[in-house]
Amino acid sequence: MTILTSIPRDIVSLSDYERYARARLDDNAWVYLMSGAGDELTLADNAQAYQRIKLAGHVLGNVAGGHTRLELLGRTLPHPIFVAPMAYHRLFHPEGEAATALGAGAIGAGMVISSLASVSFEEIAAKATGPLWLQLYLQPDRGAVLEMVRRAEALGFAGVMVTVDAPLAGLRNREQRAGFRLPDDVRAVNVTPPSAPLQPLTANQSVVFDGLMAQAPTWDDMEWLVGQTRLPVMLKGILTPNDAVRAFEAGATGVVISNHGGRILDGLPATIEVLPAIVAAAQGRGPVLIDGGIRRGSDVFKALALGAAAVMIGRPIMHALATAGALGVAHALRTLHEELEVVMALSGCATVKDIGPQHLFTV
Ligand SMILES: Cc1cc2nc3c(=O)[nH]c(=O)nc-3n(C[C@H](O)[C@H](O)[C@H](O)COP(=O)(O)O)c2cc1C
Repeated sequence: MTILTSIPRDIVSLSDYERYARARLDDNAWVYLMSGAGDELTLADNAQAYQRIKLAGHVLGNVAGGHTRLELLGRTLPHPIFVAPMAYHRLFHPEGEAATALGAGAIGAGMVISSLASVSFEEIAAKATGPLWLQLYLQPDRGAVLEMVRRAEALGFAGVMVTVDAPLAGLRNREQRAGFRLPDDVRAVNVTPPSAPLQPLTANQSVVFDGLMAQAPTWDDMEWLVGQTRLPVMLKGILTPNDAVRAFEAGATGVVISNHGGRILDGLPATIEVLPAIVAAAQGRGPVLIDGGIRRGSDVFKALALGAAAVMIGRPIMHALATAGALGVAHALRTLHEELEVVMALSGCATVKDIGPQHLFTV
């Protein structure tokens, strides 16, 4: 199936891209993109939780001259919508992350590049015109972590986002049943494979506790990293008020509320459900971002109303990339942005600062 060079008239929302992407992607890429951990309860709940929240509406407000601009970590952004970090965009489009960056830049959206990107950071940066962030996993090899951070600094990235909710891969049963495997021509090109082989476990050792988690990062690693760079460091994967407070104490510039799109631990709450308590605990020490299940401009609005500074979008961006490359990504982001503007206008909000809990309906 070919990648489209113009946007069909029946693509008018993010969900329309899903249908087009399904027709273009093979089962292997599709199952990797769409699956969640276990019974996919958290995956489903992320989106459904937004549908349970209602808007209040507000008539006859003067919103002339309104806009979606905001200040975030010393930068002026045209709107609060980012592309979430996702591994291996080349599963979905031959130019991978370079095409995503081109599309995101056209609409001024920030893009967080996964450390498991399938195109080199340098090639992605060459196509980007919007702000780029680097997503990192803390690994035992601090030298490798630092090398990534230095590359981000040299390429003028806006900051680093450390993902803390995935010290081990989730049990994605849908992927396991389908026998997902990464094709030979798609790999994490920016990562140097570890040189030391893993030590074999003895019969009475646990694969999880003695193997996978034996060298998993801790708060000490986070504090160390913050001391190594002048770039802002955000922590992605926070779900409790205590961990948010701990993140700021460790020197994080901000936190991202995320359950990894339901891909790691099934049974976690929907991210929007935990947002208010985390915003309260953060006490304005830094921005609180959120991702997971955001599919509509009204979802972006609801997140901002409950205190999020900005949002990140995952799977729908890959649907748009698979359908129409950079053009699709730009169109999907523009569609979401226009939806946000409409909801703001019909809620009497001229700027994102005006959006608050009073714009949500409560019985
Ligand atoms: C295919 C795929 C790959 C992902 N890879 C990463 C990754 O490399 N690093 C990371 O921090 N999060 C990763 N995520 C999680 C996203 O950053 C984000 O938290 C999630 O997709 C947001 O939910 P949504 O897809 O419902 O919008 C990935 C998500 C998907 C769907």
